Amino acid sequence: MTGQTMVKRKERAIVNSQTKLADGVFSMWMETKNIASQVQPGQFVSLYTRDGARLLPRPISICETDRENGRIRIVYRVVGEGTAEFSGCQEGDFVEVLGPLGNGFPLEAAKGKKDICLIGGGIGIPPMLELAKALKEEDGNIRVVLGYRDQLFLKEEFLPYGEVFVATEDGRNGTKGTVSDAIREQAVRADLVFACGPAPMLKALKAWAAENQIECYLSLEERMACGIGACLACVCKTPDVDSHSMVKNRRICKEGPVFEAGEVEL
Ligand code: FES
Repeated sequence: MTGQTMVKRKERAIVNSQTKLADGVFSMWMETKNIASQVQPGQFVSLYTRDGARLLPRPISICETDRENGRIRIVYRVVGEGTAEFSGCQEGDFVEVLGPLGNGFPLEAAKGKKDICLIGGGIGIPPMLELAKALKEEDGNIRVVLGYRDQLFLKEEFLPYGEVFVATEDGRNGTKGTVSDAIREQAVRADLVFACGPAPMLKALKAWAAENQIECYLSLEERMACGIGACLACVCKTPDVDSHSMVKNRRICKEGPVFEAGEVEL
């Protein structure tokens, strides 16, 4: 697991574009001075609202980076006042951003693997896109399993990187049900799993990986609130006592959001 050693500074990002991908789901490209060059897949940024004193910053995963032009892309769902404000930003607006934050997925785990499976559920899908790009040079087959409530977003963008399977709750696209149903129906094979999504999905994947002796890394970023270690809403239980704090829990936003599946209790 990679650590955070650099001091992060808030910076003013310039909004390049804002696009609606599905009901309540938006894609925003931003130009940043320092963030794009440092991003590891699976990391996130915290975005500050204009009235930062009243609302805590919102943690949002990084969906893509364009290092050449110093840009990052976030794809996010509007769930409250803060994200509603971001969705109203237009080209040329400024947003205060802190990042990149968190540890990211351990890319070295993919070395020598034959069947690499990327699994995203809901708003856990966006960080898997940067990961798919980063893994495209690996020798292993890449399979992507995406779980949606109903409307699809980003699916087409995964197609250049591997075979893509979809599950929707209402069955209007792909397998009816969850990503686990799609994995069963399509007999998806894996010797390495990277996943991000809601807790019930991660819990099911953890059990599937353990049963089949699959190495598995889970991003618990959907459980974050402030993203900067201030609210403690993201604490998760671990089977082992943390060597620094001497307690059996970790803050997802500080020690995560990515954990080896065996490291966390879900
Ligand atoms: Fe607030 Fe981690 S999200 S402390």
